[in-house]
Amino acid sequence: METPFYLYDTELLRQTLESVVNESKRYNYKVHYAIKANYDDRLLAIIREYGLGVDCASGNEVQKAIEAGFDPKSIVYAGVGKRDKELRYAIEQEIMAINCESIEELLVLDAMAAEAGRTVEVALRVNPDIDPKTNHCIDTGQADSKFGISYEEILDNAERIRSLKHLRIVGVHLHIGSQIRELHVFENMCQKVNVIVENLERLGFSFRFVDVGGGLGINYDMPENEPIPNFASLFAIVHNHLRVGDREVHFEFGRSIVGECGELITRVLFNKTTATGRKLLIVDASMTELIRPALYGSYHNIENITAETDRTDKYTVVGTACESTDRFDENVSLRRSVRGDLLTIKSAGAYGMSMASRYNLHDLPGAVYGEDLM
Ligand code: LLP
Repeated sequence: METPFYLYDTELLRQTLESVVNESKRYNYKVHYAIKANYDDRLLAIIREYGLGVDCASGNEVQKAIEAGFDPKSIVYAGVGKRDKELRYAIEQEIMAINCESIEELLVLDAMAAEAGRTVEVALRVNPDIDPKTNHCIDTGQADSKFGISYEEILDNAERIRSLKHLRIVGVHLHIGSQIRELHVFENMCQKVNVIVENLERLGFSFRFVDVGGGLGINYDMPENEPIPNFASLFAIVHNHLRVGDREVHFEFGRSIVGECGELITRVLFNKTTATGRKLLIVDASMTELIRPALYGSYHNIENITAETDRTDKYTVVGTACESTDRFDENVSLRRSVRGDLLTIKSAGAYGMSMASRYNLHDLPGAVYGEDLM
């Protein structure tokens, strides 16, 4: 296989899925896979075997999930800006819920449902105004965020929303951010959800489910010590703090399902030293295969997997793209690396391939699956 390519540990994916399924069963929680994290066909087929639903962020993602064999009734679709054709497609497919993110979207969807002669099941995506204590680029539930409808706006428009004849408001949805490692944040989230759900029900809404989103963080530093994210602790927190009544509780996990099972394999092209003395290791991958370090300053653990010496050097690992932010890490200690060596960039299974681009007309990377190598 030509480098760079993604290598997926399908056995680890199965272990992760087993863990999330077993832990969620204890509380009868429903789990959706946030397909934006990685929509690789082989991975989707494995995820489907474990009975998860899907969380989508576009019409094409809904279509992909359906084509991969997921039951439309297990698909939720959120997105701050859904195009008309995407809304129409979701109506047609009768998915589990369209999660609306503005009052205007509710009005438009109601009109489209009327036109189609259907009643559409909808969740209100609420912006709960919570700081998830994660990288600001990936928080989504603070007051000024573009996502969701503020609780106050829902209160102000409660009557109007309830009067929309072609929508059945069946759920409350929120998602406060991604890569959340401080789990007490979810405790605050539950307390806010309790207030929101109970107050809205007092106003006459009746919710079949609460969907608390995803966001569970993974361990990027030493993934081998913690390869399966801590679903048990998150579920225990939600169990202890969310007043559920007879409502279903749904989660939408992306990173925590596929993050750790993927790595990006890349080859060293050249060594060079800048005039300031910085040692650059130029590899054949770039931000076009894995944009997270360039876009968010994200950290991924890098190792040289073919070096013949145990002596190490400090390197700045840079990619091939014509962008100065195209670097994977700075001043990282690696076994002494020469042209032709292979490096692995770890925990790249989530938001790696799915965010790949063809900038500089690069080819999209291929994929290799652990189960094929046995
Ligand atoms: N539900 C909704 C509505 C979301 O927007 C997201 C992610 C998820 C669930 C899944 O979140 P997760 O469990 O993966 O944290 N590209 C960024 C992450 C963007 C997350 C977008 N929304 C990154 O590379 O870190």
